[in-house]
Formats: sequence, structure tokens, C-alpha cells
Amino acid sequence: MSRISIDLIRGALGVALLLGTALAGAVDGPLNPRVAVGDPVAGRAWSDDNVCKECHNPDGNSTVPEYPRLGGQFSPYLLKQLQDFRDGRRKNFIMQALTQDLGDRDLADISAHFAAQPLMKGSTPTASALGRRLFEAGDPGRQIPACAGCHGVDGKGVLAGKLAYPAIGGQHRFYLRGQLQDWKAGIRSNSPDRIMNSIASALGDADIEALADYLSGL
Ligand code: HEC
Ligand code: HEC
Repeated sequence: MSRISIDLIRGALGVALLLGTALAGAVDGPLNPRVAVGDPVAGRAWSDDNVCKECHNPDGNSTVPEYPRLGGQFSPYLLKQLQDFRDGRRKNFIMQALTQDLGDRDLADISAHFAAQPLMKGSTPTASALGRRLFEAGDPGRQIPACAGCHGVDGKGVLAGKLAYPAIGGQHRFYLRGQLQDWKAGIRSNSPDRIMNSIASALGDADIEALADYLSGL
């Protein structure tokens, strides 16, 4: 991605800022076990000098449904995603452009910064019975495993050694639905052993809708 496209994105964000979509600064939370990589203080300064916060908010808890919440997400997961964008294993025009010139050290620091922020939380609890059932128990007859088995009983993720099962509970519904559709269609394929591709391929549209609905409320 060229410097020009990065400048274009920065320019577009400058306009958004003038229109008043910028959000108030947040204070870094205390260090927590989710912060396993990098230096959150350096990451905060780095984030302030860059455009991340314009879409994801200073504390990572974006209010725009298209932009995923990063707040409290495990830092090894965030770092892996940023490296995957940079190295082309995960596709997204904006995120690939923004990570293009960044080294592992910067990516680790910024990951630690967002991981140290308040954990993402749903604002509107939903009562999708199907979503809840799939999340808690899966559907063995259809080869769908329980999401909770990997993402934690509360959906807030699990850190197993170096492997981070990301928090998905309290994430934006729009983003969750999009990611599940992308895993299913193979557009996103960066999970270890393509595990999420296998799982999502067993989900129908109604399942995806129900899961996005239920998870976003946690
Ligand atoms: C113009 C808006 C925008 C800006 C600026 C931006 N992002 Fe993103 N970011 C997105 C979108 C959209 C996605 C979802 C991409 C997808 O659908 O796969 C995303 C995804 C991510 C993810 C993956 C989250 C997950 O749960 O898997 C991380 C991590 C991330 N961004 C970090 C950053 C960092 C660090 C910066 C600053 C260098 C940044 N973003 C700047 C829009 C933005
Ligand atoms: C065997 C373990 C496992 C199970 C079961 C599982 N997942 Fe995952 N999931 C993962 C891993 C690992 C990742 C991170 C992939 C990566 O590193 O890019 C992930 C990533 C995701 C993401 C992307 C999160 C983000 O921020 O972009 C979503 C959404 C998701 N899973 C939803 C689900 C749902 C819904 C279910 C149940 C139907 C489920 N997962 C079951 C292991 C699992």
C-alpha cells in the first residue's frame, strides 16, 4: 500500500475530526493480565500520534458498528491480527495500509495499550434463544461446537499459553456478523488450522444472525 493511500485515509479522518466525530481522551487503566506483550505507555503515546483512535476510540471501545472494539482484548490476539494485516494474511484495505510500515515493536506496544483499556461490553442485552444455545452448547448433530468452549463461558476470551481465543462477547453485532460471514466464505482465513472457517461453514444465515445478536449483548 503506498504512502498516498495512507495520506488519503489520514486526510479523510481529518475531515471527520473537523465534523466533530473525535472523542474525548481516556485514561489508561491499570495493567492487567490481558496485557502480555509490549509497553502500554509507549503504545498510548504511539496511538495518540497515529489515527487508530479516530476509528477505534482512544480506549478501543469504538461506538461505530463497522469498527471493532479492541478494549480489553488480549494483546497477543491484537498483535497477531496487526501482523496478519501487515503481512497480507488478513485482508482489509484500511488496516493493511495503516500497518504497512510498522515494525513488530510498535505493533506490540499498541496492542498492549488497547489490551489495558476497559473490557468491551454489550450495551443492549439480547435474548436470542438460538444464539445462546449455539454459544453454550453448539449443535453436535450439525458439527457446530460450543463457542464458549474456546471463547470462554462469558464470551470474554481465554488465554491459553501463547494462543489467545479472542473476546467476542460485547463486540459490535455488525462486525461479528461480518466476520462470521467472512470466515464462512473463506474471505478471512487467518485462524490457526483454519478452525474458524470449519466452524463457520457449518453455520446457516439464521445461525450467524442469532449468534451476532446474542454475543453483542454480552
Ligand atoms: C478508518 C478506520 C480505521 C482506522 C483509522 C484504524 N482501523 Fe483498525 N479496523 C478498522 C476496520 C474496519 C476493521 C475491521 C476489518 C475487517 O473487517 O477485517 C479494523 C480492525 C482492526 C483490528 C482487528 C480487530 C479484531 O477484533 O480482530 C485491530 C487489532 C485494529 N483494527 C487495530 C488498529 C490500529 C492499531 C490502528 C492504528 C494504526 C487502526 N486499527 C486504525 C478500521 C480502522
Ligand atoms: C476450537 C476453538 C474455537 C471454537 C469452538 C470457536 N472459536 Fe471462534 N475463534 C477461535 C480462534 C483461535 C480465533 C482467533 C483467530 C485468529 O487468530 O485470527 C477465533 C476468532 C473468532 C472470531 C473473530 C473475532 C474478532 O475479533 O475478529 C469470531 C467472531 C468467532 N471466533 C466466533 C465464534 C463463534 C460464534 C463460535 C461458535 C459457533 C466460535 N467462534 C467457536 C477459536 C474457536
